[in-house]
Amino acid sequence: MVKSDQPPPKLSKEKNQHIQVFVRVRPLSVQDKQKPYSNVIECPSSREVSVKEKASSLTSKTFSFDRVFNTQSKQIDVYRTVVNPLIEEVLAGYNCTVFAYGQTGTGKTYTMEGERSADPSITWENDPQCGIIPRTLSHLFDTLKEEGVEFTVRVSFLEIYNEELIDLLSSNDDATKIRIFEDVTKKGSVILQGLEEITVHDKNDVYQILTKGSMKRQTAATLMNAHSSRSHTVFSITIHIKENLVGGDELLKTGKLNLVDLAGSENIGRSGAVDRRAREAGNINQSLLTLGRVITALVERTPHVPYRESKLTRILQDSLGGRTKTCFIATISPISANLEETLSTLDYAHRAKNITNRPEINQKLTKKELLKVSGFFVISTNICVFEFLIAVISHSLLLPFLIFFLS
Ligand SMILES: Nc1ncnc2c1ncn2[C@@H]1O[C@H](COP(=O)(O)OP(=O)(O)OP(=O)(O)O)[C@@H](O)[C@H]1O
Ligand SMILES: [Mg+2]
Repeated sequence: MVKSDQPPPKLSKEKNQHIQVFVRVRPLSVQDKQKPYSNVIECPSSREVSVKEKASSLTSKTFSFDRVFNTQSKQIDVYRTVVNPLIEEVLAGYNCTVFAYGQTGTGKTYTMEGERSADPSITWENDPQCGIIPRTLSHLFDTLKEEGVEFTVRVSFLEIYNEELIDLLSSNDDATKIRIFEDVTKKGSVILQGLEEITVHDKNDVYQILTKGSMKRQTAATLMNAHSSRSHTVFSITIHIKENLVGGDELLKTGKLNLVDLAGSENIGRSGAVDRRAREAGNINQSLLTLGRVITALVERTPHVPYRESKLTRILQDSLGGRTKTCFIATISPISANLEETLSTLDYAHRAKNITNRPEINQKLTKKELLKVSGFFVISTNICVFEFLIAVISHSLLLPFLIFFLS
């Protein structure tokens, strides 16, 4: 057992990397304090969490992770430890993914999106309650501007509910069908046709975009009981950066960050098996169930990994045993009433530590190469060539063809 207060290891540049797993303990809520429940969680060090298996028990079970955030932890602490190191990787051209996993009400959305403080004089950027998504975008914009490079930032916000894909940024309500295609140029990657990708020009736009998407999700929640607890969201940020080479040529570097807020994990047992009562009630979240099975298959190195059995694992296949750098944040409740789910979440998260990925930098493309295939379009347009090319290659369906022609 690791007993240390050292910072978690930096993501190394080695080929095989274990995915990083973090735990965050939610503070007692006002409702918790009114109930006769006791606290069953302790964090003996910054990497350990202990759970009393019975409220009255003296013995406890201890788990170790890359970092444990106790009930006092602030949004900024989680951001600095989990996401800060990933920003450098995304800007270097890697794809990265952060999953938030845990029981309903334990703080997945609070961690990923955050909230707004009641004081209107606090801007979203300075709000201590601000979560990972807005912090990430603010940080990315500041860094890219500081570096003085030419760049574009594009975002999409996808919801998976009942194995249906919903575009949270589309103003269209008639759920345009989003279709999943295999990316023939990149094994394990998929292309989502029909998913809107919005170019963000200013970091203040980001907050509005996120609010718009969250509101669309909440509208659906009021229509359907506990919709948000049963749906998954994937907020993706894609960065394109222009690099100038000696000799006048230009390269286009691409990095991506997926921020995933999973559905509440109740009913999914410790090894990813579904709870019998939930199965009988037909209350199975296929994507969450398959995520558990994919993790089990990867940890046990079985030859078949069932990525194709759910939309979530199909879309995020590259994050699980693939070329993406991946982190998990498991959120737990501190009270005895949730003991069973807490142990289940910690077991699950602990197993996920054994997944290894092989991160790889995305292929860079030269402008010359891109012009070869899209040159005739460029002649007929007045907009900046670089921006135009990004728009062309970001049009997801064109990308495989472009790469295919270039290879
Ligand atoms: N670390 C925290 N600090 C302060 N408040 C928190 C924290 N985590 C969660 N909360 C509060 O707990 C409540 C539930 O959190 P949240 O909605 O993020 O849960 P969730 O895991 O997303 O649940 P669901 O699975 O139902 O979507 C919210 O009111 C939130 O403000
Ligand atoms: Mg939530």
